[in-house]
Amino acid sequence: MSQFPIIAVTGATGHLGRHVVQALLDKGVPAGNIVALVRDPARASEFAAQGVQVRQADYAQPESLSAALAGVERVLLISGTDMQNRVEQHRNVIGAAKDAGVKLIAYTSILNADTTAMLLAADHQATEAALRESGVPYTLLRNGWYVENYTGNLAQTLPHGVLVGAGGSGQLTPAPRRDYAEAAATVLTEGGHDNATYELGGDTPVTLAQLADEISRQTGQPYAYVNQSVPEYTATLTGLGLPAGAAAMFADSDAGIARGELSTASGDLRRLIGRPTTPLPDAVAASLPR
Ligand SMILES: NC(=O)c1ccc[n+]([C@@H]2O[C@H](COP(=O)([O-])OP(=O)(O)OC[C@H]3O[C@@H](n4cnc5c(N)ncnc54)[C@H](OP(=O)(O)O)[C@@H]3O)[C@@H](O)[C@H]2O)c1
Repeated sequence: MSQFPIIAVTGATGHLGRHVVQALLDKGVPAGNIVALVRDPARASEFAAQGVQVRQADYAQPESLSAALAGVERVLLISGTDMQNRVEQHRNVIGAAKDAGVKLIAYTSILNADTTAMLLAADHQATEAALRESGVPYTLLRNGWYVENYTGNLAQTLPHGVLVGAGGSGQLTPAPRRDYAEAAATVLTEGGHDNATYELGGDTPVTLAQLADEISRQTGQPYAYVNQSVPEYTATLTGLGLPAGAAAMFADSDAGIARGELSTASGDLRRLIGRPTTPLPDAVAASLPR
């Protein structure tokens, strides 16, 4: 019998979820002990080819969750993307996990969820409360920003030569998704993380201007940070075609950066992954087109 529990990962076909499944395999978890919960199994063929269990589940459909979580001992709930309904959706997952007898729910929350004033944090705060009320042991993985938020669409942004934002000279501690995924895999495979809260971020704080400079240095192309007020940046984003609500949310998040709310000196990420977090130059290099 395997020394590892049966571990489910929701959102497994997402960017973070794919890294988590890989990190579990890298830790030696047998593929058959990993359950990938996906909306569309057709997008999970490489998991099935590796022997990972693929089960269909939608956060909005409680009956699909109950079936998908049968026999699961630990689950990573990756926060959803439906900004209107995700607290209810997360509650569906927590309820189904409780009914299935799951022994640990790890949840991808937001950095500094206790103290941040960012609008984006409200759903995470409500989900954290639902976890505490559930009576199921939980682990709060309060993720900071992904480096990929700034490197994931360089093909579109680099030709403009500017990174626009409203973060001022605030510092943030981003890390690549891979680091956060490894931290999640640690919590899911080790014991001793029941009801723990981790404030996760990279080891070295940077400003958005420093981030843009690093991208410029590595690409050899002009790329500079341009700061705007929150209303100006909101208008910039709507001008680029973002819906008003999403634009307001992004601009508000940058205001959080300006206040230092996406920065941590906790060291929790490096402790969970057992190494220094990926340095920004390496994270930028890894995300550039080869
Ligand atoms: N820390 C940060 O910088 C940051 C940045 C952006 C987002 N986030 C949050 O972190 C999460 C993971 O990030 P990511 O980059 O992996 O995002 P992503 O690639 O968009 O992945 C989101 C995953 O959630 C799944 N999902 C959404 N709604 C669902 C539903 N109703 N039922 C089942 N699955 C559902 C998606 O399923 P499909 O594969 O079927 O689409 C996808 O696999 C995001 O969802 C968001 O909450 C964090």
